[in-house]
Amino acid sequence: MNETLKTIASRYTCRDYNSKIPSDEFLKAIAEAAIQAPSGMNRQAWRVIVVKNKDLIQDMESEGMNYLASMEDKSLYNKIMEHGSRLFYGAPCMIVVPINLVQYAPALVDCGILCQNIALAATSLGIANTMCGLTGMAFASGLRSEEFSKRLGFPDGYAFGCSVLLGYANTAKLPHNPDRDKIIFIE
Ligand SMILES: Cc1cc2nc3c(=O)[nH]c(=O)nc-3n(C[C@H](O)[C@H](O)[C@H](O)COP(=O)(O)O)c2cc1C
Repeated sequence: MNETLKTIASRYTCRDYNSKIPSDEFLKAIAEAAIQAPSGMNRQAWRVIVVKNKDLIQDMESEGMNYLASMEDKSLYNKIMEHGSRLFYGAPCMIVVPINLVQYAPALVDCGILCQNIALAATSLGIANTMCGLTGMAFASGLRSEEFSKRLGFPDGYAFGCSVLLGYANTAKLPHNPDRDKIIFIE
């Protein structure tokens, strides 16, 4: 296996971080890798917002948890409570990716590709990561979405797309077991 394939095979979702923040040098390298992602018609209808601000991360986490607790279906909330009660698993840093869905429908696909670039670049640098769609819960009630969009510096017309948590793992994990039955060759 070459280095790229090794990185892909070793990426896993971290759910237990310590408080050490990755260096700016690494965060810049990860952000650069993010914006090298392909996008439909090269629209690049995204932003890459690197957040190290503890207060902002904590505020989004508590608003997200409040929203989950207020939902009629409590299964997601209960699952998180059973596994440490932390939406962001103690991650000291995250990259938030807002997208412009109004002007450009495939932006969500582009956002996913960009987030995978973040995850793989981070893995290659020994930085644990979590693709975290649940950060969107902080925007879901609408009560604080404007405030968070402002604090994060979303441009007009942009809304939360996805996020990737970054940091260092307290406990490392193995990646999921890939199901090779899903691969089909037609000769
Ligand atoms: C778009 C997307 C959103 C995700 N959102 C979350 C999330 O909010 N919280 C979480 O713990 N994991 C999240 N995950 C991680 C998946 O649960 C994880 O990738 C899957 O269980 C496979 O495990 P692995 O990444 O360790 O191989 C997300 C993954 C993707 C692709």
